[in-house]
Formats: sequence, structure tokens, C-alpha cells
Amino acid sequence: MTTAQAHPNIALVKYWGKQDSPGNLPAAQNLSITLAGLTTTTRVSEADDDGIWLNDKPTEDAKISRWLARLRGTFDIPPLHITSHNDFPTSAGLASSASGFAALITAINAHCQLGLNAEMCSEWARMGSASAARSLFGGFVALVPPLWQAVPLAMSAHWPLEVVVAVTSNEAKTVSSGAGMERSRLTSPFYKTWLRDAATDFAQASQAIAAKDFGALATVAESSCLKMHSVMLTSQPSLSYWTPASIACMDGVRSLREEGQDVFFTVDAGPQIKAVCLPSSADAVAAALAATPGVLQIIRSTLGEGARVIG
Ligand code: DP6
Repeated sequence: MTTAQAHPNIALVKYWGKQDSPGNLPAAQNLSITLAGLTTTTRVSEADDDGIWLNDKPTEDAKISRWLARLRGTFDIPPLHITSHNDFPTSAGLASSASGFAALITAINAHCQLGLNAEMCSEWARMGSASAARSLFGGFVALVPPLWQAVPLAMSAHWPLEVVVAVTSNEAKTVSSGAGMERSRLTSPFYKTWLRDAATDFAQASQAIAAKDFGALATVAESSCLKMHSVMLTSQPSLSYWTPASIACMDGVRSLREEGQDVFFTVDAGPQIKAVCLPSSADAVAAALAATPGVLQIIRSTLGEGARVIG
């Protein structure tokens, strides 16, 4: 039996759309931070037949089954009993597939002695869910061409940012990221502009991280987030992942910034708001978001490490 852990990551420069080629490749480079405060723990052991338990419930997950079949096309892997547990809401825009595939390949790699290094694990995780490639690493992480294996940009200690997650709904989303981004690629009039801007956004964010320039990172990260949601909203049929409380939290973050707090927001394909801040602002940000009507739960996080075997 082998157990691995991984954390979700949140993209500060996002991707939304895949390349028209095999390998589950994002259409544009992207950049994330790994969150220590949310954890997926995955255990694999040999069994008579494959079986997957997600949060203590037996699960038929076509994405995981397809991915396992693909892995078995390259490696000799016996039937596996897989249990995976998230200590945070699953499938609600908190990147559970990212930490899930990162923990799973890490556990299988160790258990079945596949001999993969972290970059190769990142590539396999990406084939399961593209953002999962980034959860192999801690701190600040980029997913870039030509290999589309994630690369660590900076360790957590380089710039120990904090993240306050405001959970505004615990419902699983009705349109998956994969289906949503394909809809956007085919129908949003803004999709081409969105792709065109990605390289500039990525360069600006990388420079801001290297220089620890919070204001510059805030500007480019909020812009990348809102451009992605503009593409979603202008898809046919329209994709809207926000609740009224998501919008109230974004307004709240802007007000906090006007009051002098170092904070910006980012939102993925779900209703949760992630407020990224300097440690000196974290208490004020958490208090303001907790007091926002419609916020169900606050999760606080520092930046975390990459996927690892724990036993
Ligand atoms: C909005 O990587 O979860 O979080 O590969 O289909 O599983 P699949 O999609 P996924 O989509 C993530 C989209 C995003 C932006 C980002 O993480 O860059």
C-alpha cells in the first residue's frame, strides 16, 4: 500500500481552451500557486479488480478509467484499489482534479516502481487534467511549451503569499471545465483575443513574481481571471459559474484594496473566490470575506509544496 498527498493549485495566469492535438495540452501557457491549506490524500494497493473510492464512496469515474487505461498502455500495472480523500469541497471550483491526478500518479509511480521523475509525473498528471500538471510542484509553477510538463518558477519561501478562499457554494458544477472550454473555443467571439493576450500576461506575471511586485501581480492576475470569465460568459450557451456572493466578494476585495490592503482576487470554473494577499493583510481579508452575505466557509492557506509520497 502506498499513500501520496498533493494540493490543489490556483492559476494566476489562466488557461481556458485546449490545443487541437493529443495529450490534453492547454492552448496557452499558464501559471499557478500551490495551496498548502487544501489536501488530497490518495492510497493505492493491489486488488483483484480495479476499484475507486472518492471521499469514502465507490465511484465510476470515466476520466480516471481512461487515464489508467492509457497508463497501462505504457506500463505494466496490476488491478488497483484506489481511495482518494479531499479535505475540501470536491468538483466545485477548488481544483480537486488537479490535486487528485497529481496525488494519483505520485502514488502509482511509487507503488508500481514506474521510475518516473517529477517532470514525467507532471506530464502524466496533465493527461488526466491539464491543471494537475502544476500540482506536482510547490510554490509558483508554470505550465509552458514545448514540453508542457510543469516547471517550478519559485519556491514558496521566495514570496510567502497567503490565500483566503471564500466558499459560496458546495454544489458540484454542472458543466465540467473540459466541456466548458471546448464550448468557449467553438463559440466565444473573444476566444482568439484571449489566446493572443496569454503570452503577455504570462511574461508580466513571471516578472512580478521575480520582483515580488504585488501591485503588478494583482493587476495581471485579476485581468487574466476576468478575461477568462468574459470568454465563458460570451460562449453559446453562456457559461456563468458565479453566485451573487462571488460578485459581492470581488467587490469586497476591491474595497479592501482601496483601504490599503494588499489583496487581489481570482476565480476559476466555479463560484469560490480566492483572495491572494500579503500575510500582513490576511486577517483583514478573512474577516471581511467571512462577513460577506452568502459566504459559507472561509479556508485560509499558505503556499504549499508539491506532490509527495507520505507512506
Ligand atoms: C479555469 O485543467 O481542470 O482552472 O484538463 O479538462 O481537467 P481538464 O481541465 P482543468 O481546467 C482548469 C481551468 C481553470 C484555469 C487554470 O487552472 O489554468
